[in-house]
Amino acid sequence: MGIKEHWVVNYRNVQDIVRTRWKPEAEKVFVAFNANIDTVHRLSEKNLARAIRAAGEKEIFSKAKSPPEKIETAGDFLSNMAYAIKTSGAREIVCKNPDVAAWAEKVFPPNEARVGGQAGIMANFLSRLGIEVVLYTPLLSKKQASLFEKDVMCPALRGGKVSVVPAKNAVNSDMTKTNRIFEFKEGFRLGSSASGRANRFILASRPKGTEPLFPSSFEPHFADIFKGVDRAIFSGYQSEKVGHKRHFSKAAREIKKIRKAQPNLLIHLEEAFVSSAGLEEEILEYIAKNVHSIGMNEVEARQVASCVLGRAPKGNSLEELYIAGAAIAKKLDLLRVHIHYLGYYLAVVDKKYPVSPERVRNSLLFASLAAEARAETGALPSVGDICSEKIRGISDAGIRELEKLRENMGLCRGFVESGICDMGGHYLIAVPTILFGRPKTTVGMGDVISSSAFAGELL
Ligand code: GLC
Repeated sequence: MGIKEHWVVNYRNVQDIVRTRWKPEAEKVFVAFNANIDTVHRLSEKNLARAIRAAGEKEIFSKAKSPPEKIETAGDFLSNMAYAIKTSGAREIVCKNPDVAAWAEKVFPPNEARVGGQAGIMANFLSRLGIEVVLYTPLLSKKQASLFEKDVMCPALRGGKVSVVPAKNAVNSDMTKTNRIFEFKEGFRLGSSASGRANRFILASRPKGTEPLFPSSFEPHFADIFKGVDRAIFSGYQSEKVGHKRHFSKAAREIKKIRKAQPNLLIHLEEAFVSSAGLEEEILEYIAKNVHSIGMNEVEARQVASCVLGRAPKGNSLEELYIAGAAIAKKLDLLRVHIHYLGYYLAVVDKKYPVSPERVRNSLLFASLAAEARAETGALPSVGDICSEKIRGISDAGIRELEKLRENMGLCRGFVESGICDMGGHYLIAVPTILFGRPKTTVGMGDVISSSAFAGELL
């Protein structure tokens, strides 16, 4: 059997397990904090080129070499957009000028509006899988609540008692945070460059009241709020301001209290694009050091590596990202580090992590099936969609990365077929992914991958 056939069997095996043995309704996952509405704008080459010409091509392209980290003018927006296309990277920058947001909306009209924010996307997705989901998000308007799956519940504290209520009964604000997502396809041409992959640039808004913290009134009730919860996923710390030590120490204290109240609960931090190194340092110091697991894409892995290790991997080879991931796990005392890249997913899992390496491997495969199903339709997939995926398009580049890693590091025999290698204190787990040529959407893909890889370990 060739290597690819081994992976077809591995993937089919996971589909069988999901079909025959998995009881998602027996799992309870808590998700917090960032939820918003995303308006999705699919860019056309013509439209963008025209807007850049109107703003002055020379100036925009020269600014795009090192674009501003705040958006105050249309030029700031266009140079960031050009940079995102040139580097094919995911990028998110805050815009506080409503005129620029209104201008961008007029020049690039939206194609659709849907739930955004990592916690919002993960809550809806896990709920669609049939998992019991409890979501806490600080700003919940009627409009926002109406976009959640009907089974997504929110904690409520009434008369000193904790209960969970459907999202629509937990509305606490009439403000809605809206982000504008500008998506471009692989091969999108701009000037002399073309994007190496489909990706997006996010023009983010930052209304007040979205701080990634629980209300103080919840603190004495954490044992009740987290009762029966198997796993928690926290995200949204990128919206904090640098130097907001008071918020960060409150967040760290909350996590410590939750762990004390529910010692068996496993907590995952989902990373995000962070526009300043200072903020990343705080997220790592206060949040990452207090959780069990983190998930990130290759851009975020570089961000984290440069903060924690003082150096970042130059390329995206499995070897480089594995070395960075293992060093990050050690420095931050994490039991699990998950990095996803186009052709492969990788996990570094400490031997103390209470899940077998085979299960971790299977959940990475589950995540790849979910991502493929999502890429194909643009919608959040159900268990049925995931199980009926035809196994084709396993990444050759991903398989080559596994082979190269085995050769270069002298890994155990069988690694290329099983994706698992015992590295002493930890397991290295890597799988080639299934690639879908022209994804309908890219935003939220990381959230689908990370949440299914983490929650899928209960499969
Ligand atoms: C960030 C963005 C949000 C988007 C999400 C996707 O949270 O702020 O708009 O939906 O990323 O991962």
